[in-house]
Amino acid sequence: MSQDAKKRRVAEAAFEKVRHLIDSETPIGIGTGSTANCFIDVLAESKIQVLGAVASSEATAERLEHYGIALLDLNATGTLPVYVDGADEADTNLNLIKGGGAALTREKIIAEASAQFVCIADDSKYVDLLGRFPLPVEVIPLARSLVGRALVELGGDPEYRQGIVTDNGNLILDVHGMCINDPKSLELAINQIPGVVTCGLFAKRPADVLLLASDKDILEFS
Ligand code: 5RP
Repeated sequence: MSQDAKKRRVAEAAFEKVRHLIDSETPIGIGTGSTANCFIDVLAESKIQVLGAVASSEATAERLEHYGIALLDLNATGTLPVYVDGADEADTNLNLIKGGGAALTREKIIAEASAQFVCIADDSKYVDLLGRFPLPVEVIPLARSLVGRALVELGGDPEYRQGIVTDNGNLILDVHGMCINDPKSLELAINQIPGVVTCGLFAKRPADVLLLASDKDILEFS
């Protein structure tokens, strides 16, 4: 099965899983990327009445608007019952690396604001140890070099993602070669470097449910 077909299948499985939480009075959160896009497509095709969604990026907001799904402000919704989003890597404890699409900061905010975080991916994203995918770090432009040096001190090899400005007006450093034996401690250490907005480790607030599409089935971890 192609990767695109797996993304669609896992999005359908996520929709079935959360559909009882979707109605005309309940806000939901929706992430960014090709798998999250499949979820938006499935949601729109269902024609189910939805109050609206908090979007983790301008790209997701555009897709939701295209389907006529209302955009909601997280400051007005309060806690969201569910957030559905993809990931670049997921480990057996449901810790994640996110930010391949440069939306990590809003993704982390919405994940934190949600009662349940359902992560959806194809099975190529499942790893024993996080770190094969370079770890994205969102950085205030003034601090790019300072943060880069601090990331080298932490054992990484940061690479400036050329030509990318995040929805928040910041830059991305992709950190290669990081040893991520203790994702939560590393997340906290990186987030404490002055100039870091946030890093793409989701370990302090991991996923609650991970749905993975394999060639045959949908695998569920929680
Ligand atoms: C965006 C993300 C995405 O969830 C991640 O990059 C996965 O994307 P895709 O579903 O296209 O593989 O973190 O910032």
